[in-house]
Amino acid sequence: MREKIIIALDVESEEAALSLVAQLHDLAGAFKIGLQLYSRYGPAIVCKVNAAGGKVFLDLKFHDIPNTVARAAEAAVETGVWMFNVHAAGGKKMLREAVLAAVRQAGKLGVPAPLLLGVTVLTSMSEAELHKETGVSRALPEQVTALAVLCREAGLDGVVAAGPEVPSIRRACGLDFLIVTPGVRPAWAVPNDQQRVITPGEALALGADYIVIGRPVTAAPDPRAAAELLFKEAGKGKLC
Ligand code: C5P
Repeated sequence: MREKIIIALDVESEEAALSLVAQLHDLAGAFKIGLQLYSRYGPAIVCKVNAAGGKVFLDLKFHDIPNTVARAAEAAVETGVWMFNVHAAGGKKMLREAVLAAVRQAGKLGVPAPLLLGVTVLTSMSEAELHKETGVSRALPEQVTALAVLCREAGLDGVVAAGPEVPSIRRACGLDFLIVTPGVRPAWAVPNDQQRVITPGEALALGADYIVIGRPVTAAPDPRAAAELLFKEAGKGKLC
């Protein structure tokens, strides 16, 4: 169960991030480093979290021309990440180049290739915005599933997806395709700005392989106690 929980290190400082890693590294499966922490501290923060005993999901959502994304993927591999991601909307050529570059670089370094995930449609985007602002005419759930299939065809290991999208992705992409689900809230936690929240147990019961959780643990007065409670609830693994 613990391997399935990824803690989002959305904090202001390196000290705060490393303090959370020290408190939680034996409990959590991995730690997610996003744009906030990476933009401030760079690749060094990945190395420091690794050195403190935490695996890293580098959530930088690369989206650029294939060559640029491939070179960024190589750099991500060099930092020793366990998992990283790219935007599926970059297209098949970009996705494929990212996979090939990561595998090639890992081979050169003699390390396992990190897991590579695609981001489909950001959960902050509404269906109306998707149609009006990006010109996508497909319904949002169809768009998500189509992009997940594209990721699968390009050789990615999986996608990041909200809870409600998990079953249709699972049906379309099969059992060995990873689904990482953020936006989960234990029954005792406040939703913050997350809209369509489900519990960790629900997310896992719907078929998510990993769940990402931040503030209910990282902003708790006692993050370790909050994490323990979370694992207990997620371990029930049933819809409630
Ligand atoms: O604090 P909270 O549990 O809401 O943190 C969720 C984390 O997952 C944040 O780092 C957020 O950026 C990320 N995320 C998300 N929804 C997505 C993709 C990533 O909440 N669709």
